[in-house]
Amino acid sequence: MEIINRRQRMSSVARKIRREQDRTIGLVPTMGALHEGHLSLVREARRMCDVVVVSVFVNPAQFGPGEDFAHYPRDLTKDTALLTDYNVDYIFAPPIEEIYPKGFSTYVNVEGLSEQLEGTARPGHFRGVATVVTILLNVVRPDFAFFGQKDGQQAIIIRRLVRDLALDSEIIVLPTVREDTGLAMSSRNLYLKPEEQQAAAVIHRALAKAKETYRAGERHGAKLTELVRTMIEAEPRVRLDYVSIMDGETLEKLDKLDERPMMIAVAAYVGKTRLIDNTTLNATKKKDGASAQA
Ligand code: PAJ
Repeated sequence: MEIINRRQRMSSVARKIRREQDRTIGLVPTMGALHEGHLSLVREARRMCDVVVVSVFVNPAQFGPGEDFAHYPRDLTKDTALLTDYNVDYIFAPPIEEIYPKGFSTYVNVEGLSEQLEGTARPGHFRGVATVVTILLNVVRPDFAFFGQKDGQQAIIIRRLVRDLALDSEIIVLPTVREDTGLAMSSRNLYLKPEEQQAAAVIHRALAKAKETYRAGERHGAKLTELVRTMIEAEPRVRLDYVSIMDGETLEKLDKLDERPMMIAVAAYVGKTRLIDNTTLNATKKKDGASAQA
């Protein structure tokens, strides 16, 4: 395994792999502080691709003022040790100026999808995500890039971005990995005390209940959002920000539910920590039978 810091070196290594060796490349973009959720993406990349690149870059452009950029957990030594066990070929861990050179002034904004839900609470967040993902895809030019359903809106935005800009990588979205309690794994769970982690598990219980109610035949969106709201509000340590049911591709808010792929998304605060989670309804099955249901 090699750790690469320079974007030019990353580009030339990847170019060689594609052109001279005719091998496929899988890219797993991360911000580090790796947990089982990230590692599930790495495992699938290893299974599907000849060469696996994991990027570790805490992207300043996706953090707003007053957010946790300075405090975001960073431990490249630990991440490297984990990735060695997973037989990863390259870690791309650039310093900020390699991604955003002096005078950087070009941003990617996926309009319409970026302003709602997380975009309302975190203006500019998805512009930062879309920009860095475009740069990473252009540097590595992977055949496949792997993302988690945990960040459902992000996955939808990245799919749209790749389609709209005709980028030559296939986006693979994999199911959310959870703690035993059902809490979605997240680097930000490190901010929570054990009793807060326990309390936060209500988010998944509420989403699972809503999905079960949909499956039992409920088609009024408001009934499901109300159910989620009531369950979460009964937990005093958790403060709901939003719960929303949307079309799984356009993020159009829905009240009359039907049989199309949809997503119920939640954001909530536990103390100062913002947590997000979602569940999919009628998720499309992948070719190999796995689905992004989570
Ligand atoms: P980060 O939060 O580090 O997540 C990296 C990838 O891991 C994302 O695709 C995310 O959806 C996925 N992931 C996180 N927790 C997961 C879980 N519990 N189960 C399954 N997948 C999970 O998301 C980002 O970084 C950044 O926005 C990034 C895409 C790297 C751009 O900077």
